[in-house]
Amino acid sequence: MDGQEFTALAPGTPMTGTATTGSPGSETLDELLARSAQRFGTPQFLYDTGAIEARINKLRAAFGGRFALSYAVKANPNPGLLAWLRDRVDYLDVSSIGEFHRGRNAGWEPARASFTGPAKRDHELREAIGGGLGELIVESLREARRASAIAGALGRVQDVMVRISPDRVPKGFGGHMAGQTSPFGIDVEDVDTALPEIAALPNLRIVGLHIFSGTQSLRAEAIVENYALLAEIFRQVSARHDLRPRKLVFGSGLGIPYHEGDMPLDLGAVAAETVPMLDALRAEPRFAETRLTLELGRYLVGEAGYFLVRVVSIKRSRGRTIALCDGGMNNHLPASGQFGMVIARNYRMHLVGADPEAEPVDVDLSGPLCTSIDRLARGIRLPPLAEGDLIAVHQSGAYGPTASPLGFISHGLPVEVLATGQGLVGTGRVSLCVEAPR
Ligand SMILES: Cc1ncc(COP(=O)(O)O)c(C=O)c1O
Repeated sequence: MDGQEFTALAPGTPMTGTATTGSPGSETLDELLARSAQRFGTPQFLYDTGAIEARINKLRAAFGGRFALSYAVKANPNPGLLAWLRDRVDYLDVSSIGEFHRGRNAGWEPARASFTGPAKRDHELREAIGGGLGELIVESLREARRASAIAGALGRVQDVMVRISPDRVPKGFGGHMAGQTSPFGIDVEDVDTALPEIAALPNLRIVGLHIFSGTQSLRAEAIVENYALLAEIFRQVSARHDLRPRKLVFGSGLGIPYHEGDMPLDLGAVAAETVPMLDALRAEPRFAETRLTLELGRYLVGEAGYFLVRVVSIKRSRGRTIALCDGGMNNHLPASGQFGMVIARNYRMHLVGADPEAEPVDVDLSGPLCTSIDRLARGIRLPPLAEGDLIAVHQSGAYGPTASPLGFISHGLPVEVLATGQGLVGTGRVSLCVEAPR
């Protein structure tokens, strides 16, 4: 097995030759997945940069460049991916000082980073502010006071955006961060009292407003309604407090189709309704210089990732077949249905190199853990499996290792690989540690 060291990708790496954009030779997706599994081992996460590039281009084209893009590191903090994204998206949103360091280590200027998170500790504020953070996303009055004191002690004035928690999230989002009792941001009902206090703090400068209220929506009309709601809050709060924001952050809510039968989001429909609304906002003198920004993770990288596991053995138990695999919920908690899913549903997946003539049969897939919830699939239809077979779980580019109990039962860490126009680049085993700047 090679490629265990982190190899930073040069900016401008050409994007032909990856799994979804077609290769210079005629390598198919399955040939690529098999080659990567053979070379780097399993369990493995493979990220196709060509697919991410296509997604970035699609987003920029749909909104005609009206939105800058801010990548939420929590979705996938792989060091090679962060380095690759550096010249392709505009900003980085970090939610811990560890993610801030990861961004810096991947070559991001700290001024392009914003810092969200409901319970930031003093040492995180100190390191981020002292380290040249772009904008602190202030989530409470208390945090604003602490940040101002810390910035003062460092002899700095820190740019901040105030995170607002709306009182309503339209139906159709898989996860809600507002519209109910919420740890995130300042309730919209309380903004009018909090904002003047924040504005009066000596070492903070309010440069914008931020809302992230809902995630994982596949319904264009719900996203459109939400953006309109966010814009109205931004408009009213800015007017009441005479703000001329440098930036307004729209939490994207853009979802991806994880399961059989999910219809992909119609981004064109979202853009068709949203663009006139954004233009109307920008036409107001107060917002003439405002950078409108979409903050997102899964929509950028989720569909570009494959989780590769090998079948260790096949078991028959009480009339059912179980394929026991070398990776499971320890590597990929969301695929096991244990992360933000009310009803566990199978991720899309396929047998790599399957005989197209093979008749699919019902099978359960489980991982190597000694717990019955370690399932990658229940009753999925796949060609008959055998020991050594390679399974590719789709939609695995976001909230894979980063959202999984990697240490549980000490099975070792999965490897991660980027597929690029220059070939396969191993970025080593998933790293858990938070590296301080080198
Ligand atoms: C503040 C914030 N920004 C961005 C994201 C990324 O969300 P998604 O991956 O659904 O785009 C999240 C997700 O929870 C979030 O809480």
